[in-house]
Amino acid sequence: MKQYQDHYFKKAKQENYPARAVYKLQEMNNKFKLLKPGMAVLDLGAAPGSWSLYASQKLGDKGRLLAVDLQEIQQGFGPLATVLACDVFSDAPELTAALAEIGPFDLVMSDMAPATIGIKFADQARSAALCERARDLALANLKFHGNFVAKIFEGPDSKPFKESLRPHFDTVRGFKPKSSRSESKETFILGLGFRPARG
Ligand SMILES: C[S@@+](CC[C@H](N)C(=O)[O-])C[C@H]1O[C@@H](n2cnc3c(N)ncnc32)[C@H](O)[C@@H]1O
Repeated sequence: MKQYQDHYFKKAKQENYPARAVYKLQEMNNKFKLLKPGMAVLDLGAAPGSWSLYASQKLGDKGRLLAVDLQEIQQGFGPLATVLACDVFSDAPELTAALAEIGPFDLVMSDMAPATIGIKFADQARSAALCERARDLALANLKFHGNFVAKIFEGPDSKPFKESLRPHFDTVRGFKPKSSRSESKETFILGLGFRPARG
């Protein structure tokens, strides 16, 4: 298992991505064709920047990227990216302004994770709260037929969270990337084909 972890870690170093997490997005992109040139993408929980770097490489010179994290991001993503250091729960005016300016989005993706405290149910609940916030931002800022991806720590809230997406997307499904550490309780939930609520 150690070898398996090392493989993605080393690969990320060799390919100049700041985190091995990039391969989870790559697997989802290969399977679900999430990223295309010219898209507008919102990346929630973007630090240290591997998902945003990968996305920016797929978006070409007409795409737009908004990368948001609590932490400052050192990685550059090119001139079409906007990077914000803020809490997604904060309703910070710069976040509201950037969402309005860059959105609506073709893809809202969240790899957000809480700083874990080692108490399983508390960590799962905080992960679910981040997913709910990502979902609410997605529902408010996605284009018609846009897609949503969120990482969740599997637990009692995973199924209700998945169900909460069904009224809003053509297809809802779970995905556990091969590059996700096998001992990790994380999994990804995708909402594909956003349908804004009527009325
Ligand atoms: C696993 S890392 C993301 C890795 C990133 N996708 C990459 O590929 O480099 C999870 C991130 O979620 C961020 N995060 C957690 N809670 C957040 C919040 N309330 N607002 C914004 N970012 C948050 C953390 O700061 C952390 O950088």
